[in-house]
Amino acid sequence: MKKVFVKSYGCQMNVYDAERMADMLATEGYSETKAMEEADLVILNTCHIREKAAEKVYSELGRVRELKKEREAAGQETRIVVAGCVAQAEGKEILRRAPAVDVVVGPQNYHNLPALLQKARAERVVDTEFPVEDKFDHLPKPSKTAIRNRGVSAFLTIQEGCDKFCTFCVVPYTRGAEVSRPVAKILDEAMRLADAGVRELTLIGQNVNAYHGEGPDGSVWSLGRLLHRLAEVPGIARLRYTTSHPRDMDDELIAAHRDLPALMPYLHLPVQSGSDRILDAMNRKHTGDEYRRLIERIRKAQPDLALSSDFIVGFPGETDEDFEDTMRLIADVGFASSFSFKYSPRPGTPAAEIEAQVSEAVKAERLARLQNLLEMQRQAFNRGTVGRTLDVLLEKPGRHPGQMAGKSPYLQAVQIESDRHAIGEIVTVRITQAGSNSLFGEVAGSGSQAAA
Ligand code: 5AD
Ligand code: SF4
Repeated sequence: MKKVFVKSYGCQMNVYDAERMADMLATEGYSETKAMEEADLVILNTCHIREKAAEKVYSELGRVRELKKEREAAGQETRIVVAGCVAQAEGKEILRRAPAVDVVVGPQNYHNLPALLQKARAERVVDTEFPVEDKFDHLPKPSKTAIRNRGVSAFLTIQEGCDKFCTFCVVPYTRGAEVSRPVAKILDEAMRLADAGVRELTLIGQNVNAYHGEGPDGSVWSLGRLLHRLAEVPGIARLRYTTSHPRDMDDELIAAHRDLPALMPYLHLPVQSGSDRILDAMNRKHTGDEYRRLIERIRKAQPDLALSSDFIVGFPGETDEDFEDTMRLIADVGFASSFSFKYSPRPGTPAAEIEAQVSEAVKAERLARLQNLLEMQRQAFNRGTVGRTLDVLLEKPGRHPGQMAGKSPYLQAVQIESDRHAIGEIVTVRITQAGSNSLFGEVAGSGSQAAA
């Protein structure tokens, strides 16, 4: 049996895509390996969000090429595929700069992988067209064992691409226009996952709450409506979704946070900046106060909510005052978790053309202050759960023998002293202590969600 090694970078969408590629190649006789050295096929599933993403891929390809040479010396063949958003952005350039690469395939084309690998026997190939047909229709269904090996919490892609064109972001160029999958296809996939033991679904998409898929009756369904339907799938106890845009939080979705017990009280809703001037330059189409008011409305529907956001510091033209506006917004809103980055120009995006770039030293200083505040908020949130009793979905064995690890409704990692419980079970846990990266607790009983 041939072996495939997939290295995935970046967001959850890439994790999902990597799994689909593995499913696809399983039907071609490939089994997955976690050791690159023993792989007959190496796939780098790349991400273009971070700085110097393409350069990092080229240097990784240098290392893979060495491996290919070593294996060649031992009489073994290694084929190399570059997939994901760097593949989409760089295209042919990859074949030119990295002679060891056999196939370059974009995120909308990986269903063609078997055919591309075949074709590459004659001539190295690039496939980065945005196809008209739906790649999901061409993907094989994963086996029950494959699903089980991936755990009780699964990602499910419900939409792809983005039409928002924030001026710093490459996603609209690499993932293309916003497309929603039909409800029936999503339900089918959800039932399959649940049938194999999955308890928690995280619906993913670059702009997931812009979801507007075709319902079984031909009408257009919003994310709120879809969540209600998915909550009825037997076995599914928990639902989450990510990543959202503030402009797409409609009333139906906000109401779902109030009405749907399966929808976890956690929301990742990136604001990026607290300065109206910068938000405007970012083309975010909302102000700081509009975000504050939106959060108030969501918290009214679901007061018990862990909020999370992405932040960018040092966007071109950002002054000290703009930055203080961001710090104020963080202080006003309060975040349980967050991701924050220094702005870095992405070739081809409008912000990369702005002349007033902020110096590296200023960016570093602002990021340190921002992260300090966010870290204090995160720890305060975690400490606030000590003494409470929370439902924990058990996902895997814990760090030490006799322990198990799982997630709280707020997506906190929780370690419990027990090995009596089954993975996939939801137990109620009294939180006894908050460590720096996880909570610790004692099992107090079966979770209220256990019967779902
Ligand atoms: N520079 C810095 N951060 C960026 N992000 C996206 N593009 C850039 C960029 N050019 C961040 C945003 C986004 C997250 C996924 O990555 O905060 O929400
Ligand atoms: Fe990028 Fe998100 Fe803005 Fe879309 S909404 S352009 S994915 S940052």
